[in-house]
Amino acid sequence: VSSEIKLGILGLGVVGSGTVELLRQNADIIEQKTGAKIIIKKIAVRHIDKPRSVNVDRSLLTDNSYEILDDPEIDIVCELIGGIDPAHELVLRALENKKQVVTANKELIAKHGTELMNKANESKLDFQFEGSVGGGIPIIQPMKNALAGNQVQAVMGIVNGTTNYILSQMADENKDFNAALAEAQELGYAEANPTNDIDGHDAAYKLAILSSIAFTTPVDEAAIYREGIAKVQLRDIQVARDLGYVIKLLAIAKSNGNGSIQARVHPTFLPKHHPLAAISGVYNAVYIHGDFVGDVMFYGQGAGSKPTASAVVGDIMDVARNLNNGSTGRVPCTCHELHAITPIEKIVSKYYFRMIATDRPKMLASIANVFGNCGVSIEAVQHRPISRGRIEMVWITHKTEESKFTRSVSHISILSVTEKIANWFRVEEEDI
Ligand SMILES: NC(=O)c1ccc[n+]([C@@H]2O[C@H](COP(=O)([O-])OP(=O)(O)OC[C@H]3O[C@@H](n4cnc5c(N)ncnc54)[C@H](OP(=O)(O)O)[C@@H]3O)[C@@H](O)[C@H]2O)c1
Repeated sequence: VSSEIKLGILGLGVVGSGTVELLRQNADIIEQKTGAKIIIKKIAVRHIDKPRSVNVDRSLLTDNSYEILDDPEIDIVCELIGGIDPAHELVLRALENKKQVVTANKELIAKHGTELMNKANESKLDFQFEGSVGGGIPIIQPMKNALAGNQVQAVMGIVNGTTNYILSQMADENKDFNAALAEAQELGYAEANPTNDIDGHDAAYKLAILSSIAFTTPVDEAAIYREGIAKVQLRDIQVARDLGYVIKLLAIAKSNGNGSIQARVHPTFLPKHHPLAAISGVYNAVYIHGDFVGDVMFYGQGAGSKPTASAVVGDIMDVARNLNNGSTGRVPCTCHELHAITPIEKIVSKYYFRMIATDRPKMLASIANVFGNCGVSIEAVQHRPISRGRIEMVWITHKTEESKFTRSVSHISILSVTEKIANWFRVEEEDI
């Protein structure tokens, strides 16, 4: 005989509606698999009378979240409001009232995850957040369970569908950044105010979550180096293609092998044979290298009502099983250590550098000299005339410390042959 587990949902927007739809549509298999009937007892919203994409009896709705949080019958609280205020306070209250918690709120986990998980652990409560990274892609649970025995060396992800769509459109349709962004907005892939996506904030929240689990350390989202995609020019994408690369907004976290880690979000030159290079449009993927598993990659829809509901309901089912077995709180916060994040000036990478120069005798030598004097060695250089007396030069460096590379760039910028520094990007290798 199935048990009855009562669920309260905070938020009935994109993800909340999908969650209700999935719990209803697949109620039979959910009950078979968990041995529990999941009953939605109450749903909190801001505007009770707003039209909804899912049919919900008005008696289920409340505009007072505390009717859920303070209801002794409710076992699981599912927070799908988003943001910090009031989500943080509401989730804390749920935990104080000994509710199991499921959320898809990346900002909340990135900023307050350790505090909330520790609070949940005090009362041996489940606190699950699979939907917070990669929408429907299972990544948090696999890292905490199936891959837990590995020492992770690197996690790299395309974790923002909006920016991946824009970069894919630029590459495939030769559109410039503004045209690709406008199209993404028309199709509903980018919000009216796309700053959070374009500037890499959304990806940084997700990287804070991924890297803290991968490297068992709290990672402050504010400490993650971040560069958005607005600086990517169509010309860079064309040059990248000619050189055998694609440009992707990557969220990268790596172990330096000495107790410190790297955590950074920026547009990156990626060899076209890299598994992440093939991820196009709004799709997301996360690539992990562990010492025993080797390479693994998780791929799927990184946002949207149904995919995210899939992750949220997976969490609800996991909690339901734990409730049935009296085994909640099995996997507490996994941040057992404290690893420093390497400042960006100290990372070691290859670099792509594009500039416009005046075509004069010894021009090439004067630029090469600057690189040499700064200790940067060059893997490749190519140039092409763009108009009479002007040339575009593209340099690819060998691996070097970032501070040496940026010092070269500032010296080159004041050479008399330099007309313009066009752009530069970090280049990832095929092997991590
Ligand atoms: N959208 C995605 O594809 C996606 C993917 C992965 C993760 N997420 C995460 O999932 C969460 C929800 O996102 P969403 O896209 O579903 O947001 P959304 O469409 O804006 O929905 C938010 C819901 O919260 C309700 N709400 C707002 N303030 C409230 C309050 N003070 N009390 C009670 N209810 C309140 C709103 O009520 P009204 O409807 O009455 O206004 C709305 O139903 C966020 O953390 C987001 O980062 C979203």
